[in-house]
Amino acid sequence: MAQPKFSTHLGMVDILPDEVGKWQAIERIIHEEARKFNFEEIRTPIMEQTELIARGVGQLTDIVTKEMFAFERGDDHYVLRPECTAPVVRAFVEHHLEQRGGSQNLYYIGPMFRAERPQKGRQRQFHQFGAEIIGPDDPIADVEIISLMLSIYNRVGITNTTLKINSVGDPESRAAYKEALKNYFRPHLDEMSEISRERFEKNPMRILDSKEEEDQEFIAKAPVITEYLSEETEEHYARVKTHLDELEISYTEDPHLVRGLDYYTRTAFELISPDLGAQDALGGGGRYDLLVEEIGGQHTPAVGFAAGIERLLIACEELDISLGEEKSVDIYIVTIGENARTWALNHLPKLRANGISAAMDYMGRSVKAQMKDADRENAKYTIIVGDNELKEGKFTLRDMKASEEEALDFENIVERLKKKV
Ligand code: HAM
Repeated sequence: MAQPKFSTHLGMVDILPDEVGKWQAIERIIHEEARKFNFEEIRTPIMEQTELIARGVGQLTDIVTKEMFAFERGDDHYVLRPECTAPVVRAFVEHHLEQRGGSQNLYYIGPMFRAERPQKGRQRQFHQFGAEIIGPDDPIADVEIISLMLSIYNRVGITNTTLKINSVGDPESRAAYKEALKNYFRPHLDEMSEISRERFEKNPMRILDSKEEEDQEFIAKAPVITEYLSEETEEHYARVKTHLDELEISYTEDPHLVRGLDYYTRTAFELISPDLGAQDALGGGGRYDLLVEEIGGQHTPAVGFAAGIERLLIACEELDISLGEEKSVDIYIVTIGENARTWALNHLPKLRANGISAAMDYMGRSVKAQMKDADRENAKYTIIVGDNELKEGKFTLRDMKASEEEALDFENIVERLKKKV
């Protein structure tokens, strides 16, 4: 085969027809679970203003400093969205969604873009589903968000996961904690990785997220944020845990859990899977009580999560979970000659109007080739139409699985198939 002239960009993949069934099955589950939890879908543009993402996600984060696909056009600065929380909050503020009253329970599914080094479970264009509750401060919202996330994995059949939780405090407790971390790491910096030395200056909490071998012994003994939490934050965190206990949702407290985005306050969590390899986070999220204000709205607390669909699919593969139905068509009309082709074209709408999926050959192929095609399309039934059949008004309906045939007129074929599909 000739080498193709064009290919996708690095880290961006096509979802081909043979795979799309799995995607549709997952999307269906997400929509159904979201509906059960009383969430409404929101769709925001793929591109946002660069300033929104820089401010929202954080000027010093890897996402903003290294991973943005950004460009300018005239005076406008565009970025392909690397995540959807800042865009949803922008939409909330821009359209005054608070005026709808109550808490805004929103969810989304769509592509996100980060110029990372691609590897298993890490792409440059990837897909997230996520949900945000904008309005309530109550830990009940945190637990509902976690429950929604888990209910989607439960429906898919991925249950061998670990929910890690932490509280990353409010800005005051974080400032004190960052100082404590700096004092702790400073004497060891020479022995630590380059990336951690860089993070020491920009955001010492991100050192805790390092995967570098040489950092691990220092991270293990680092101070924990839970010792720096204000009374109110500690109380909030305790209530999140109590509600999780009441719902029998098991979790592991990880006082070193920090997230790669700067907007978090108080609750932070990640869902980890042992079936993913190095990129082991299925999803993550937390509270971001200051983001609405940061983006120009009134002070409004909020909590949310997002999860990667590609990683969910990797976990399914590892666990031998098959999603989606095998493709098939209810009936394939095999035609002999031009009259039959016209007849087929004119009768397809009647079948489809009755909920029956129907196909015919578009390429004038031989009967043998059409039968092969019907097989490839996984047709449940075929009829062969030629001049004789048209004259008689009777067609041989073949049940492909049972290998049974019966001569029927077209109306009876429709009635028969209507009952079966
Ligand atoms: P995040 O942890 O950056 O959080 O991303 C959430 C999930 O998206 C990850 O756990 C992972 O499954 C998937 N993901 C991230 N980057 C990639 C990539 N390059 N390739 C494949 N999958 C990836 C957020 O995005 C926050 N907006 C979550 C949130 C919502 N927090 C509050 N509300």
